[in-house]
Amino acid sequence: MAKSGHINTTHRAWWKECSVYQIWPASYKDSNDDGIGDIPGIISKLDYIKKLGVDIVWLCPSYKSPQVDMGYDIADYYSIADEYGTVADVEKLIQGCHQRGMKLLMDLVVNHTSDQNEWFKQSRSSKDNEYRNWYVWKPPRFDEQGNRHPPNNWISHFQGSAWQFDELTGEYYLHLYAKEQPDLNWEHPPVRKAVHDIMRFWLDKGCDGFRMDVINFISKDQRFPDAQVKDPRSIWQWADKYYANGPRLHEYLQDLGKILKEYDAFSVGEMPFVKDENEVLNAVRFDRGEINMIFNFEHVDIDHGEYDKFEPGSWKLTDLKNFFERWQTFMYENDGWNALYWENHDQPRCVDRYTHAKEEHRLHASKMLATVLALQAGTPFIYQGQELGMRNVPIEWGMEEYKDIDCLNHWHGLTKEKRFDTKAQQIARQEYQKKSRDNARTPVQWSSAPNGGFTGPNVKPWMSVNPDYVRVNAEKEVDDPNSTYNYWASVLRLRKQELDIFVYGDYQSVDRDSQDIFAYIRGGKILVVCNFTDKALEWDAKANGVQNTKEVLLNNYEGTGVATQKIMGEKWPLRPYEALVVMLKD
Ligand code: GLC
Ligand code: CA
Repeated sequence: MAKSGHINTTHRAWWKECSVYQIWPASYKDSNDDGIGDIPGIISKLDYIKKLGVDIVWLCPSYKSPQVDMGYDIADYYSIADEYGTVADVEKLIQGCHQRGMKLLMDLVVNHTSDQNEWFKQSRSSKDNEYRNWYVWKPPRFDEQGNRHPPNNWISHFQGSAWQFDELTGEYYLHLYAKEQPDLNWEHPPVRKAVHDIMRFWLDKGCDGFRMDVINFISKDQRFPDAQVKDPRSIWQWADKYYANGPRLHEYLQDLGKILKEYDAFSVGEMPFVKDENEVLNAVRFDRGEINMIFNFEHVDIDHGEYDKFEPGSWKLTDLKNFFERWQTFMYENDGWNALYWENHDQPRCVDRYTHAKEEHRLHASKMLATVLALQAGTPFIYQGQELGMRNVPIEWGMEEYKDIDCLNHWHGLTKEKRFDTKAQQIARQEYQKKSRDNARTPVQWSSAPNGGFTGPNVKPWMSVNPDYVRVNAEKEVDDPNSTYNYWASVLRLRKQELDIFVYGDYQSVDRDSQDIFAYIRGGKILVVCNFTDKALEWDAKANGVQNTKEVLLNNYEGTGVATQKIMGEKWPLRPYEALVVMLKD
């Protein structure tokens, strides 16, 4: 075993020590029985959130929006969607968090707006409107036969060309997502000023920072070149180099960073398509003054197919371990910082993605995943329902239950392109149940009452509740000391108790090549060992250089006392999905 055991506390920061709880408002808690979650509903659950032990609440977009992409299409950054509440409600939510010693983050979605945003309505109205340059407009290309084509071959993340033709002015506008989500033109200074104003508006209301949507897409290669298409099936994969981490990204982030610094605000940026660690480092290194941390994608893209998310993909535990080890080491050595997450509103439930756990093992698997994630170096993010061990939608659900534009566009694409046969249909359906964003978007299961207590018993919620709410729900878990919820609370407590080790200690892989065990040592002091399989097995501690054990700090099966017995031997018996956190002797 290589020597490690360093603890680096030179750049302590409050945001490194915190953990974050993510709320997706439509599915959190409905307070007025219209079937849609809302801000008063969230306020009514603040004690539940506090009790979990998190420090920050991240509220997904709640602004005025036509909800083509569930609020990631913003029509007005200064008002709240009627179905969610009012600006006054958000102010109450901020207060409610602050009174409980928690902070509130908002989602800043500024790569694009909704096509219903006043800026875009102006922009599309004429070529010489003062807002024309706020978006990316380009004339068509024509072929020899005089047929009209988009300005380049970029593909939208939600299928089809990334360009939409607008009859009125005879030009195309760029939309990297849905056609109702036109991309803003950050080259144009008034756009940047508008974003700064939005940030200040919410920070002045007491909001404590932002999660920044696809923030590495804001600077695009101004030549807008065609992507080299090496294989038509993967066309969108080749264009990202022209819009992800573009030439002026850091200049723009520096500007945002200055505002964030003034308010000592928290920031986490979403950054898809990052291949080079140094690109990330330039955004998050401590002295750069840009943002605090970013969301990486490699570990959540792990089960995607070769060309497409909705194609079957396979992965090995070593892939997952290598990903974490690489980023853990890199950020530690280079004064950067990681955001740690398994789930969010775009990802399926982690128990289903990362384990094969049948229902009998759900509890231990969800606790094991909490352990392995949150005890790494970084700021842990927990997505609503993850603390309950919520699962993916049932395999029996028909397409009518799916609501997400990403999944539905894919489904319609299959039909349109006549790739639609029973086999393709079957495969796609299977993959939706594994990877569709809908998996994360079923309502939170509050109790065993009808509709899982999310909304009134006679209301049809906007999206069906996962029928397992009868077994898996908050009411049951809060009072059960062995629940996933209470286990998460102990993980977060332990992380704070041993803050120097878990937050500032280095990371060393143990048993790196194993396809069954995920193990590491933090700060040379605390060992985490997790069985990623549904089988009982023996872990050879001695062969992995672990002999100096002191006590078990945490175990996802039973009292730490019983578990301490088994770490005294050379080989440790581990049950399915068992997780052990072990203090080592000096
Ligand atoms: C981000 C969001 C996702 C949204 C997309 C476009 O990836 O997390 O939900 O659809 O950006 O805003
Ligand atoms: Ca409601």
